Amino acid sequence: MDLGLKDRIAIVTGASRGLGRAIAAALAAEGCRLVLCARGAPALEAAAQEMAGDEPDRVLALPLDITDPDAAGRLVNAAIQRFGRLDIVVGNAGGNRRKAFVDATDEDWRELLELNLLAGLRLAREAIPHLAGHDDAAIVFVASLFGREVGGPELSLYNATKAALISAADVMAIELAPRRVRVNTVAPGSIFFPGGSWDRRFRDDPQGKARFIADNLPLGRFGTPAEVAAAVAWLASPRASLVTGACIALDGAQGRSLI
Ligand SMILES: NC(=O)c1ccc[n+]([C@@H]2O[C@H](COP(=O)([O-])OP(=O)(O)OC[C@H]3O[C@@H](n4cnc5c(N)ncnc54)[C@H](OP(=O)(O)O)[C@@H]3O)[C@@H](O)[C@H]2O)c1
Repeated sequence: MDLGLKDRIAIVTGASRGLGRAIAAALAAEGCRLVLCARGAPALEAAAQEMAGDEPDRVLALPLDITDPDAAGRLVNAAIQRFGRLDIVVGNAGGNRRKAFVDATDEDWRELLELNLLAGLRLAREAIPHLAGHDDAAIVFVASLFGREVGGPELSLYNATKAALISAADVMAIELAPRRVRVNTVAPGSIFFPGGSWDRRFRDDPQGKARFIADNLPLGRFGTPAEVAAAVAWLASPRASLVTGACIALDGAQGRSLI
């Protein structure tokens, strides 16, 4: 199926590895031109070069910290200056901080609220004037299974910030529908890739990994970044023109939420 994304302009945050890199690669393969960010420049440049192939002008790598107050504006301005328009925003950069609730400080809360919630919302706010009124403008946020349901002990920071992201996106979808900007979230379950969080957790514990899979993953395996990327590319495309205000579970039935 042709997703109809040729020459669409997309920003993807956290695109140097893992899910963000796979999402950017999927959009590039569909013909998008990209503005990518992450903090670490070498890995970001390498990812951008690989995606651009023999057309280096199609992908712009902007090393920055998305939690910096001016980062969102810099990304959107870069897209407009380089490509003259903006069609798609994928807010993927995010992270987990495991801590017992009683040990989590205000500083911990501020840090994760910035990374998992405010950075994405700020980017959307900067982008909306450029997205509004286009045909098929789309914002997709990468939330988590643990934004849809309780994750368990030591996950209050992650759980609350991802749930807030899903919640804000649902309201944005209603407000932005008249301006023809679709807003959706995806909620991945446990996604495995070399060097990723699940790889690190189980690298020296193959039995623990097998137990985790047996106890939590009905498909008998972790998800892959490419599986998340395929869903995000579709959501960002005109093929998903009726889909807005949705949170799509990408978890192989790992989740137990009824919604
Ligand atoms: N992996 C999973 O199983 C899973 C499951 C559910 C949801 N998710 C969500 O999916 C998203 C990506 O996860 P992942 O596993 O691919 O994470 P990851 O391996 O930690 O990669 C995160 C990416 O974001 C960048 N990044 C991190 N902090 C940043 C910041 N402050 N400013 C700019 N870029 C930043 C990283 O590059 P630098 O470090 O160089 O900045 C990297 O490119 C996250 O929102 C995560 O919560 C992941």
